[in-house]
Amino acid sequence: MGSAQERIGDEEKHENGSPFDLNDFTVIKEGEAEILMHAKNEVFYNKTQVNNRDMSIAVLRTFISKRQQEHEVMLSKKSRAGPKVSGEPVAEPEALTDTVMHDEKTNGECEVSQEISQDESCSISEEPAANQEGKGRGELKPPVVLEALSASGLRSLRYAREVDGIDKVVALDNDKASVEACRRNIKFNGSVACSKVESHLADARVYMLTHPKEFDVVDLDPYGSPSVFLDSAVQSVLMEEC
Ligand SMILES: C[S@@+](CC[C@H](N)C(=O)[O-])C[C@H]1O[C@@H](n2cnc3c(N)ncnc32)[C@H](O)[C@@H]1O
Repeated sequence: MGSAQERIGDEEKHENGSPFDLNDFTVIKEGEAEILMHAKNEVFYNKTQVNNRDMSIAVLRTFISKRQQEHEVMLSKKSRAGPKVSGEPVAEPEALTDTVMHDEKTNGECEVSQEISQDESCSISEEPAANQEGKGRGELKPPVVLEALSASGLRSLRYAREVDGIDKVVALDNDKASVEACRRNIKFNGSVACSKVESHLADARVYMLTHPKEFDVVDLDPYGSPSVFLDSAVQSVLMEEC
């Protein structure tokens, strides 16, 4: 990777249009991720949460590996059961026929939208966006993760860079300065981060309710109790059928 200035680009500006001066920032490295923290520390960064983020990464790795194992067991059970012989048309297992493919990522280049506007895609999705199997192939699609309260995006960036097998991480925050920082940090972390992490300015509850069954993992890290986010978080999780 190049110098910090090269990584962030000459054209970088604050959302209010004021010029961006790298001297106002400190580079913080945690795990494989690096973030730019403004001297004024306007965006939440809690150094003491490093263990919490480490634990989340361990849990996520375990989840991905268990999910794969369970999927393989389910496939082998289905293949051992074989097709029905009653003469009736054989219904294919639902899990193998549901096909909702993700858009292929073409974002090899490091482009992060700089325009920060409230997320407008609030219509209820007709289909579960997700993350199910490819038609008839029995493949398990890589998981999509939502970090609903992402601040600087550090946690999302660590997921993208340190956990193998993730398809995408969506990072939300309802604070403009946080989203601006998150987008800058995505760019700062290079091509893997740019291709895997996307940042939206949105109220987490509205976003989760309007993106039902789109995520395999939802991470909630609020300032206080997570209780106000739980109902909407459950709506946004895709429950895999066995
Ligand atoms: C504790 S910080 C998140 C820290 C982050 N997860 C990390 O590991 O670095 C909580 C964040 O939630 C954001 N937030 C609070 N209420 C929100 C809401 N309703 N929707 C989206 N973001 C919210 C705040 O702006 C803040 O950045």
